[in-house]
Amino acid sequence: MVIRIVGTGSSLPEQVVTNEELSRVVDTSDEWIFSRTGIRERHLVKGETTASMSAEAAGRALCNAGIGAEEVDLIIVATITGDYMTPSTACEVQAALGARRAAAFDINAACSGFLFALHTAYAYLRAGMYKTALVVGAETLSKIVDWEDRSTCVLFGDGAGAAVLHVCEMGTKGNGREEEAGGMLAFEQGTDGARGKVLACRGRQNNNLLEKNPFVPSYVEMDGQEVYKFAVSTVPASIGRVLDKAGTAAGEIKYFVLHQANVRIIQSVAKRLKAEEEKFPLSLSHCGNVSAASVPILLDEMNRKGMLVRGDKIVLSGFGGGLSWASAVVEW
Ligand code: UT7
Repeated sequence: MVIRIVGTGSSLPEQVVTNEELSRVVDTSDEWIFSRTGIRERHLVKGETTASMSAEAAGRALCNAGIGAEEVDLIIVATITGDYMTPSTACEVQAALGARRAAAFDINAACSGFLFALHTAYAYLRAGMYKTALVVGAETLSKIVDWEDRSTCVLFGDGAGAAVLHVCEMGTKGNGREEEAGGMLAFEQGTDGARGKVLACRGRQNNNLLEKNPFVPSYVEMDGQEVYKFAVSTVPASIGRVLDKAGTAAGEIKYFVLHQANVRIIQSVAKRLKAEEEKFPLSLSHCGNVSAASVPILLDEMNRKGMLVRGDKIVLSGFGGGLSWASAVVEW
């Protein structure tokens, strides 16, 4: 059985906010933000919603795959910023696309969310339950960012990315023997809940029947340096494990498509893997950190630029809130 990514799509809000503009809101500068993170600007919603961007990205991915919405069996949206607690964003995508026969649900694994969703969809397909899955990563982080906290508000952006995962016909390879020819080759993922509070955003508080609790909004809180240390040690280790599982050497990988949190984290991972930095494409400068959406947005940008060629091996890797991490080796 060969399970491939056969289409990608993405959607970014129209509004672009530069570092310069942010420096008029909080005490920061383009110099600080760019030198510490690699971010120049980000897209922020102004009317768009998590569901509207998800549906647009998903529709584009289906179009890219040449697959109709009615053929989709499963829709998984990875997000921590759905518009409703219920229905799920995935159900909204189903309605918007008219993917009537699909089952739909959301996954919360923060910045690793797209990879967790991809693994989940793969497991359903591999088990023979479904043939076609839509996997979306989407966020409107601007809703949960404290615009008075310069240590977090400069980092995040909004957007959505999507991929279509499909069970393809068996191919032949090597000595003519019928084998699994590429597609999703290996996964690895994990979480460390004990350290979770270093990157957190509280949900709704108690709504006590007898006491009148005032509604207290909650925002993203992050111990940046702790998350940084977690990322630079965990991500290379996770990628090392997934490469071992796939029986693939780092040198065989054409691109490492990493969660876009900080260019310094990406450079450190490249160094630890002894891989050229050119193999680590970036969308940070124009998107910022879009949590679950960052990997599929970047993947779609690469796909549309013709950077992904059948037979090339790539690594996808996400890390962040949970704490969580997840990596995959994919033969395009
Ligand atoms: O997506 C989930 C995963 N998230 C991540 O991977 C994020 C990981 N962490 C990071 O990327 C970095 O820790 C940050 C970019 C968040 C922060 O960079 P840093 O080099 O760790 O800076 P810092 O927090 O140590 O702050 C250094 C200084 C502080 O001032 P003092 O105490 O040295 O005087 C901060 O108050 O920079 C100050 N600062 C700022 N200055 C201007 C913090 N934020 C800003 C700001 N503009 N926006």
